[in-house]
Amino acid sequence: MPELPTGLRRVKLPRLPELSEPEVVRHFTALADRTFGVDTGFYPLGSCTMKHNPRTNERVVNLPGFRDLHPLQEEDGAQGALELMWRLQEILAEVAGLDAVSLQPAAGSQGELTGLMLMRAYFADRGESERDTIFVADTAHGTNPASVTMAGYSLQKVGTDARGNLDVESLREQVNERTAGLMLTNPSTLGLFDESIEEVAAIFHDAGALLYYDGANLNAVCGISRPGDMGFDIVHYNLHKTFSQPHGGGGPGGGPVAVREMLEPFLPVPVVAREGERFGFDFDRPKTIGKVRGYYGPFGVFVRSYAFIRTYGPRLKEMSEAAVLNANYLLSRLRESYDLPFDRLCMHEFVLSARNLKREHGVSALDVAKRLMDYGFHPPTIYFPLIVPEALMIEPTESEPKERLDAFADAMLAIAREAAENKEVVKNAPQHRPVRRLDEVKAAKRAILKYAFDEHPDLSGEPGAAEAIEAQKGA
Ligand SMILES: Cc1ncc(COP(=O)(O)O)c(C=O)c1O
Repeated sequence: MPELPTGLRRVKLPRLPELSEPEVVRHFTALADRTFGVDTGFYPLGSCTMKHNPRTNERVVNLPGFRDLHPLQEEDGAQGALELMWRLQEILAEVAGLDAVSLQPAAGSQGELTGLMLMRAYFADRGESERDTIFVADTAHGTNPASVTMAGYSLQKVGTDARGNLDVESLREQVNERTAGLMLTNPSTLGLFDESIEEVAAIFHDAGALLYYDGANLNAVCGISRPGDMGFDIVHYNLHKTFSQPHGGGGPGGGPVAVREMLEPFLPVPVVAREGERFGFDFDRPKTIGKVRGYYGPFGVFVRSYAFIRTYGPRLKEMSEAAVLNANYLLSRLRESYDLPFDRLCMHEFVLSARNLKREHGVSALDVAKRLMDYGFHPPTIYFPLIVPEALMIEPTESEPKERLDAFADAMLAIAREAAENKEVVKNAPQHRPVRRLDEVKAAKRAILKYAFDEHPDLSGEPGAAEAIEAQKGA
């Protein structure tokens, strides 16, 4: 190794923290103990699909041929990895009911942007660049309008009707020759399957526009219904949700896109192609939108998703059936104590409202969420979708047994009772966690990362701790 030039060398020794190994181990173990994850408890974070990550996936992704692979390995030495990617493309195309897949995008949101760039390229190629508007539901995840704007399109919001479907009449009035497409997740973020989807697809297709499927909620429909059959032309998957992946805190994720045949020439390069028994990268796509990510995509995510899907095999639909059953069971237990803004059978998740507790006792969705932490549960998503006031968006996933669902329902019902009988305990929650209510923006943006010696505050003497500990044992 060549020596660093003298001028670049450090003159003073760096000030490094000095702690003994046991103290370092204790520090990080204490932090890990405080971390709540799907491996430590129930995590019904609506729209995020926090399902169990089977350990088989980890065994497979740690096979040396996958784990030690360098992205610049020549194709002949990476045939197994390429075959896995090709097979995953084939399976994803089948799940979506579409023709071709690119594995490149690294998250659902990047899949969205990629999909809209594909639309752009497609319309430009047809000489229809005047199409400048994308319709987005008022229940949409924030990434949808953000992607529309980033892709250079104008955004047109579509309302939701009284049954929780898209407002078809307003679409009929507004969709025209300037429309590029619709972006929709189905089931929606309300956990409801759009009953007019075929009519909606016809409105857009008749106007020469395209339909984009935000696959964040694909966990509800895998092997049961396919976005392509519903009329969608472009789909993104959230591999980290539907097909399991330890995720949260920003990654890692995978957001492949699938398209109908007429959009295939525009897919990002490279696409994994098969020629006889050989697999390789196909860069020869003159109409491609180019690359959307370094190298070839998040490979570890591909391996885990492939392992997950192959474990189910042809029984993949049982995953979605169990997810839908679990959600409807929970809904049936909670509907008497919380408001239900759209009273229908739900899909893999459902949205309640705490507005009854707010109106009657001044207890908000935020209070309920914080109190759930005292009972040992991760809170559901709250205040989303935006059209439901005091929203509590609950997604149990297929991983949970009835006992766990019952324990969560018991806690939610207990909190509704507490709101009526002892609201201060809810309004001041959490009381038995290492920290109370934080300024969540500051906590994320200006985290305090200093080492502190006493990492183990003794909470056992705190009022209410005994009940919370008992509740946790039952959880
Ligand atoms: C409905 C919906 N769409 C899109 C996204 C964006 O996906 P990602 O977080 O993978 O970028 C999410 C993420 O939670 C979502 O819930």
